[in-house]
Amino acid sequence: MDIELIKKEAESKIESVNSLDSLEELRFKYLGRKGVLAELTGSIPSLPVAQRADVGRQVNALKEGLNKLIETKRASLSGPLARESSRGSAEIDLPGLAQGLGQLHPISQVMDRVCEIFMRMGFTVIEGPEIETEHNNFTGLNIPLEHPSRDAFDTFYLELKAQLLLRSHTSPVQIRAMKKNKPPLAAVVPGRVYRPDATDASHSYMFHQIEGFVVDENIRFSDLKGVLEVFAKAVFGSDIKMRFRPHFFPFTEPSAEVDISCIICKGKGCSVCGRKGWLEILGSGMIHPNVFRNVGYDPKKYTGFAFGMGIERIAMLKYGIDDIRLFFENDLRFLKQF
Ligand code: DAH
Repeated sequence: MDIELIKKEAESKIESVNSLDSLEELRFKYLGRKGVLAELTGSIPSLPVAQRADVGRQVNALKEGLNKLIETKRASLSGPLARESSRGSAEIDLPGLAQGLGQLHPISQVMDRVCEIFMRMGFTVIEGPEIETEHNNFTGLNIPLEHPSRDAFDTFYLELKAQLLLRSHTSPVQIRAMKKNKPPLAAVVPGRVYRPDATDASHSYMFHQIEGFVVDENIRFSDLKGVLEVFAKAVFGSDIKMRFRPHFFPFTEPSAEVDISCIICKGKGCSVCGRKGWLEILGSGMIHPNVFRNVGYDPKKYTGFAFGMGIERIAMLKYGIDDIRLFFENDLRFLKQF
């Protein structure tokens, strides 16, 4: 009675079995009530007393080992691949199901691209919270309470008492950054903003902006023009023309809206530019002295410029998209084109 021999034989048989039925037969043969191991156990009392305990231990260990082996084998014979192969239909050379590689949303792509252009000019990228205080969103930016200009930034209020709101533009991050740091400062701020507008082809209650600002001694309007020209040409091509159109923003003085020559008709006038030949791309200006006072900067010592643009608008102009809702509907037929 060679336990080692029985072990080897049983293991190799279990190993090479290829159906659940033959595995069950083997289990019965070795571990069944009248099986090989039961027989071994039954023969122990006839052994010399000195050997009994040792042989008993070996038989028990073998029983445990074979049980485990059979369970493992049973699991592998019941797996999906095993089921296929027992039906003889496994086609293991078929190519697998390809996992499509995802890509960034067009808004993220444009936002990254714009940030990158400003980073190359030495700007840092910072972010601010979407839940803002009324102070940072309005008062600090020289937009006084009850002033009609607040209407232009119609706002979702969260808690009137705590004066918390969903920021209606990314400009409040100017206040945060200036309070936290001393000049010189050059930063761009990408992020989501919210306004309670009814949704249509050109309005969404949530959209994205990039704010930018530079503060130091002797920052001039010509610096603003130069920086924005580098930006606009990098995004829309070096053959575009730009113009600065006087405008009003409470947080800048003087303020300007910036237009580029229509990229569709090259300035001749078409339906995209409303026959004007120009497309508005952003708002900008020299930071208002009151904004500096509100953050504790001396407006006699420091000057700066700021600008803000809507990312959806930039993306729509760049790619000729005529409905802002397309960005938020999650339709892969649209998104896959970018
Ligand atoms: N915050 C303005 C808006 O949401 C955009 C803007 C205009 C930002 C002029 C600026 C600026 O920093 O100087 O419409």
